[in-house]
Amino acid sequence: MQPIEVGVLGATGMVGQHFVKFLQGHPWFQLTWVGASERSTAKKYKDATTWRLAGAMPAEVADLTVEECKPGNAPKIVFSATDASVATEIEQAFAKAGHVVVSNSRNHRMDADVPLLVPEINAEHLGILPKQRELRGWPGMIVTNPNCSTIALTMGLAPLKQFGIRKLVVTTLQAISGAGYPGVPSMDIMGNVIPFIGGEEEKMQQETQKILGDFTGGELRALHAKVSAHCNRVAVVDGHLVTISVELEHKPKHDDLVHAFNSFTAEPQKRNLPSAPNQPVIYMPEKDRPQPRRDAERENGMACFVGRVRECPVFDYKFIALAHNTVRGAAGAAVLNAELMQSMGLIS
Ligand SMILES: NC(=O)c1ccc[n+]([C@@H]2O[C@H](COP(=O)([O-])OP(=O)(O)OC[C@H]3O[C@@H](n4cnc5c(N)ncnc54)[C@H](OP(=O)(O)O)[C@@H]3O)[C@@H](O)[C@H]2O)c1
Repeated sequence: MQPIEVGVLGATGMVGQHFVKFLQGHPWFQLTWVGASERSTAKKYKDATTWRLAGAMPAEVADLTVEECKPGNAPKIVFSATDASVATEIEQAFAKAGHVVVSNSRNHRMDADVPLLVPEINAEHLGILPKQRELRGWPGMIVTNPNCSTIALTMGLAPLKQFGIRKLVVTTLQAISGAGYPGVPSMDIMGNVIPFIGGEEEKMQQETQKILGDFTGGELRALHAKVSAHCNRVAVVDGHLVTISVELEHKPKHDDLVHAFNSFTAEPQKRNLPSAPNQPVIYMPEKDRPQPRRDAERENGMACFVGRVRECPVFDYKFIALAHNTVRGAAGAAVLNAELMQSMGLIS
């Protein structure tokens, strides 16, 4: 297969760097174009970027010239990691010019004609794209991935959708890398917990309903479940842990619930997508797992780990879910979205 050229909007930023790293050696996609603000334009990527990730900057990207985030010479597929203050205009300009924008920013996630895609959960939501084209008149398209805490929650819940999800109370313990760079000052977070992340609880509640909802009658319909989120920043580098209490329409036996986690498989696995984990949800029977430091990086950071499944005296069950926030919650999620779209023939 000829490599498919791709670009990254906001390539110099934290999430942009994760895209650059994640795309290194990708079997389908080749990163040939990087865009950022006018501060970086016309510089070599290595000169415009302070590389903050473990390992060296990929050599094949270091000498690319950073372009303005304007359509023109960019490849058809662009991953977006631009600052939220400019993402709306930039992403729309690219879609209008015929690009497939696979976005990580929050700006279009809740738009009624934009898929908020998690390939293991709602591949059928891509069915809204013809409507997006009709309504917006774009020859291109915008597809988004969820917020980094929502991905841990929804992946953990995906195997339970069959039992009917009615109510959720969730508490997050979110890593500092989720706040970008430099993020939370060390004096605030060391030996501490910050019980507030601006806008996060609202995003988690709304995005979860949209992701777990259906595509019926030509519309995306949100799941009618009540979701209450408490979001906290903790002194962990990578990996968002979420504690979940859930009420179900049909309460399964404990063993059936564990079996639902262990046997869960979905579209990316059937299609053998390059970034898909073999098993998207991994149940850990140990009494004290999953843990961010020990488990988030496993399976290339693309799986969701669940554990501590037990009866809940208030709702039906409670358990824990963990996902790598900058991989499965950002760059890896968007790349998997693009792989799914490519394998479905949506990117001609
Ligand atoms: N950090 C996370 O873990 C995380 C997780 C999920 C989603 N997100 C979302 O991902 C996006 C990027 O976050 P980040 O943490 O990577 O931010 P960041 O480190 O501040 O990077 C922002 C990027 O946007 C570019 N940019 C800024 N102003 C621009 C403009 N006027 N025109 C074009 N490009 C511009 C910057 O280019 P310069 O370097 O040239 O300034 C840089 O490449 C945000 O929308 C954020 O909400 C972040």
